[in-house]
Amino acid sequence: MTTLIINIKELVQIREAGINKVSGKDMKVLPRLKNAFLLIENDLIADYGMMKNLPKINADNTIDATEKLVLPTWCDSHTHIVFAGNREQEFVARINGASYEEIANNGGGILNSAKKLQETSEDDLYQQSAKRLEEVMQLGTGAVEIKSGYGLTLDAELKMLRVIKKLNKNYPIEIKSTFLGAHAIPTEFNKNSSGYVDFVIETILPKVAEEKLAEFIDVFCETGYFTVDDTNKLLTAAKEYGLIPKIHVNQFTAIGGVQAGVEHNALSVDHLEVMRNEDIEVLKNSNTMPVALPLCSHFLSIPYTPARKLIDKGLPLALATDFNPGSTPSGNMNQVVSEACIKMNMTPEEAINAATINGAYAMNVQKTHGSITIGKKANLIITKEVPSIGFLPYAFGSNNIDIVLINGIVVTL
Ligand code: NIG
Ligand code: FE
Repeated sequence: MTTLIINIKELVQIREAGINKVSGKDMKVLPRLKNAFLLIENDLIADYGMMKNLPKINADNTIDATEKLVLPTWCDSHTHIVFAGNREQEFVARINGASYEEIANNGGGILNSAKKLQETSEDDLYQQSAKRLEEVMQLGTGAVEIKSGYGLTLDAELKMLRVIKKLNKNYPIEIKSTFLGAHAIPTEFNKNSSGYVDFVIETILPKVAEEKLAEFIDVFCETGYFTVDDTNKLLTAAKEYGLIPKIHVNQFTAIGGVQAGVEHNALSVDHLEVMRNEDIEVLKNSNTMPVALPLCSHFLSIPYTPARKLIDKGLPLALATDFNPGSTPSGNMNQVVSEACIKMNMTPEEAINAATINGAYAMNVQKTHGSITIGKKANLIITKEVPSIGFLPYAFGSNNIDIVLINGIVVTL
């Protein structure tokens, strides 16, 4: 099947094959073509160019994008979309003065979500998660990473990962799976993080590997959760099974998680709200992508990742949602891009690079997603009539998307 998009006001994020990520000053450059066409054959981008050079094509479908922009879909490299129930009571408790930390220390937080998830059937969990996945596809996300970590028992972690696998099978969106068994310490381990990490390594990890349920390994390396030693131990064990690290670090405190990530050649280190100079330095000349999650900062009223500092030091940066029931109950990448511009001083070009090509890198889909490149998946956002690329983050809160295509198929309702 062929679909031809014509009269595109601007075709955004066009890249030659082989560009994996953009860093530093290059992030300000977002290559575009005005008055363009784009040809889709089956699920792939087959060709694009200027309207004046449009070859004679008998396409099965034609979409007129007059006054509209076309971008690659968002690559959301960090989510916890599979969860049970919600935590709006904790949200209200925080409004009334309780802190995120106090709530977690009193059995709320991740342990609250884990209890709910353990009591939820696999089918029910699938249905709840599928709804959220459909919502983010409507919002322009075409590739998404999803973590476990609200199970915290062998059965419940496997249940989460099987749900992720089933979502990947049933939906056209590209899904990457991450095993986050070390997300919080279950109550029965009495705050003994290393005891629980041993349990994860000995009991859960081998099963995850045996059933091939995850490509990545994650750990919440944070004061009160898992130490750098725990992190090193887990990542070393996971490497034996070929799992690649993508880890939660520096959300509330800087304890050396970034260094541990770089030492283990992590694909990404995520959160980074609290960054010391040494944390920035160690990322230089590494292959590790720093990932910022501005909606988490927004929702918890915690500092934002110092994006300007990172980019001005020459580093790349990716943006993701962190969609989860506790710290970020939103999977809206459009909002992420806006927030990055408004609160982190990123230009629209930088934010769009961070949410597309760099996001793709942070979840290892850069060969197939993240840019308008011949041969990549035809995963596209066609905007409504908008004056310019800057209008997208500027008109925050508005839905500026007209059509989303995933694998060449329109998925918008
Ligand atoms: O990335 N920081 C750790 N994990 C999640 C939130 C966990 C929760 O509150 O449920 C995050 O923010
Ligand atoms: Fe997270």
